[in-house]
Formats: sequence, structure tokens, C-alpha cells
Amino acid sequence: MKKIQKYNTPLSKIETLTLEMGYQCNIRCNFCYQEDFSPKNNAPDELWREKLAPVYPSLKRVTFLGGEPTIIKGAKDFSDFIVQEHPHIKLDTITNGLAFKGEWIDKFVSNGHKIIFSLNAASSVVYDKITRNSNWDKVIANIKDLVAARKKVSSKLILEASMLVLPENIHEMGAFIQLCEKLGFDKAFFITPLFHQIKNVDRDVARRSITEACDMKDKYQRVKVEGIESILKNLFPEPDDEVAALIDRCDEHGERDSSYYDAVCKYPWNSLYVKHTGDVMVCCAAWLAIGNLNTNSIEDIWNSSHARNMRKKMAAKDYSLCKRICPFNENPSKKNKESLNVVGRKLVYRFVKDPKMTIKKIKKEAGRFFK
Ligand SMILES: C[S@@+](CC[C@H](N)C(=O)[O-])C[C@H]1O[C@@H](n2cnc3c(N)ncnc32)[C@H](O)[C@@H]1O
Ligand code: SF4
Ligand code: SF4
Repeated sequence: MKKIQKYNTPLSKIETLTLEMGYQCNIRCNFCYQEDFSPKNNAPDELWREKLAPVYPSLKRVTFLGGEPTIIKGAKDFSDFIVQEHPHIKLDTITNGLAFKGEWIDKFVSNGHKIIFSLNAASSVVYDKITRNSNWDKVIANIKDLVAARKKVSSKLILEASMLVLPENIHEMGAFIQLCEKLGFDKAFFITPLFHQIKNVDRDVARRSITEACDMKDKYQRVKVEGIESILKNLFPEPDDEVAALIDRCDEHGERDSSYYDAVCKYPWNSLYVKHTGDVMVCCAAWLAIGNLNTNSIEDIWNSSHARNMRKKMAAKDYSLCKRICPFNENPSKKNKESLNVVGRKLVYRFVKDPKMTIKKIKKEAGRFFK
């Protein structure tokens, strides 16, 4: 009994909620991991209006995700509900920016904490190569309106821009930082989840691009820049002196001291990640659901055997229920002896949840890998 109580925790400890509103999207990016862009899987309103009602009083922040949140009706209604009924909760989202205007600007300037704009380019020429049905000029105009509105009322809203680095845009890394400075972003960051796509980029082109990005990072110090170092380390696993000097210039390796990894991840004690299917996880990087809101109440799920098991593992820094991409996970399961076992369990788990989607995903990943 004592042991069980040890890993129980009150619902009132939950501070952050991330809600997947569905996959519906107004544009198509050629790198997107989604298989479905239709409204058919949008989250039902009762999920956030009724089933999650007990968590709002203690929440500090909600993040709502798509698809593209600005065109999903449920995302609009959910954010209106938070602003009107629970104004102590701050809003976060990730958007492609095409429809981020009007009431979205007003809502975030008054009640927002952070918005990430997935720009992925520094020019319309490159943007048009990697996206369909979008409009670079409209996206930029929306961002300018938002920045002006933020300034007008001295809002503390944080604005970040991301670039998913691909062979098509790697040469624009420096220009991307420059654009972010010009537009008024607080942070510009680079991600490389599709490293297998850039592994064949000419190394001289990569060196020149990354050197330029480091120059821009030095020049525009108001903008926080992240993610250059990981691209360097991926592209140049055995760095020569020039690359080592670039890694030093990025100065990102110093940002996380060892105490970051010494600390126990607190997400299983204070965070909720809810999928449109009703599945509840503690974060986006944990692969096992602790319950489902269609079959159980949030009170029961929060201290279910899966939730307690997650906390127990985390307290022991056992990451076997965490994906390899998690930044806390310094010992990804793939590296240890249990790797096949864990990968197998994950696959079976995903297959049981959604066989069609799992097969589609495996085919897509295999296609990308052997490209
Ligand atoms: C799926 S999108 C949803 C939000 C919105 N539609 C957008 O693009 O900003 C969320 C984030 O995932 C990123 N993303 C897209 N495809 C990805 C992939 N294959 N691997 C990793 N991240 C990806 C996007 O750049 C975006 O920042
Ligand atoms: S805008 Fe977002 S959801 Fe839509 S295709 Fe691009 S990455 Fe995917
Ligand atoms: S995946 Fe990462 S953030 Fe999520 S619970 Fe595990 S260690 Fe924490």
C-alpha cells in the first residue's frame, strides 16, 4: 500500500496540458510526418470541455496542436473557452502562420505565452519548393501584424521561428537568422529530424551555410539561436579543426549543464499530453498511454497503474517508456541490450492502437531511409 501511495499524486499538481486537436491542415509540406490532413480525426469538443474539466483550475499553460490549429474549429473553440472561462491559463501553439490573423492575433497578444512559427525558409523561392497551397507573402504579412500588435500593448508573448533543415533550405540558414531578427522573433531554431535527407548534402556547401549561420548568430545577438551544433555533429561526426571551431562558436553544448541530466524528469508528476483519440500520455515523447478518456475519468487515469509505473521508472531514470528523441533521455533504449525488445513492444503497441496508420508509417519511413 505504501509503495502505491508513493507514486500517487493529486490532480492539482498538473501544470501543463498539451492537446492534439487533429490532423486537418490547410497546406502541404513535403517533409511532414502526418499521413492524414482531413478533419475526420479532429478532437471532439467533449474531450476538452467535459472530460478534462477537473484539470483546468491548477493549469498554468495549455499548448494546442494540429495539424494546423488556426483552421481547426475545435482549436478556435478551445482557445476561446480558455480565454473566457480560465483566463489564468496561458496559451501556446505551433502554426504555419498562413491563417494566423485577426482574432488569433488578439487572443495571443492578450492571453498567449508562446507561438512557434514553422517557417522552414528565408525566401519565397525556397518556401515554394517545400510547401504546397501556401503563400509566403501572406505568412510574412501575418507575422508583421502580430509583431506590431504585440509591441502596441507591450505584450510578453514569445515568438519563435523554426526551420526543419533539408537539402532545399540548408543554404538559407544564415538568411533565416537574419530574417528572424528583421521580423522581431525572439528565437530562431533549427531541427534535423530527417537527417537521412541531408546526409548527402555537399560538405563544402554545408560548411559555408553553417559558417554563415554562425556569423549571423554573432551579428544578431538579440535573437536566441539553437540547433546549429546538432547539424554540425550529424554532418561531421569526425570534426576537423575548422568544424571543431564552428562547434565552439555555436556555444550550445555549454547551455545544458550536467545537472540537467542529473535531474529527474518531472513530467509524469505535472504534465498531461492528450491525443484526439482520448489517449493520455505524460508528454509527447513518452510512447505508452497511461489511459484513455473515453473509458476512464482523468482522476482515475492520473493515478492508474500505468501512470504510477511511469513515475516509478522516471524516479529510477529508466527511460524504457520514453522515445529516443527526448532530450532528457541520455540513455536511449536503442543503445542497450533491451533495444529490440523495446522497439518490438512499441511497434506492437502502435499496431494494436492503429494498424492502418502504423503500416503506412513503416512504409513511409522505409521509403525515406532507402532513398
Ligand atoms: C506537424 S506540425 C503542426 C503545426 C503546424 N501545422 C506547423 O507546421 O507549424 C508541428 C511541427 O512539426 C514539424 N514537422 C513536420 N514534419 C516533421 C517531420 N517529418 N519530423 C519532425 N518534425 C516535423 C513542423 O515543422 C512543425 O514545426
Ligand atoms: S503545415 Fe504543419 S501539419 Fe501542415 S503539412 Fe506542414 S508541417 Fe504538416
Ligand atoms: S519522454 Fe522525456 S519528457 Fe517524457 S517522461 Fe520521458 S524523460 Fe520525461
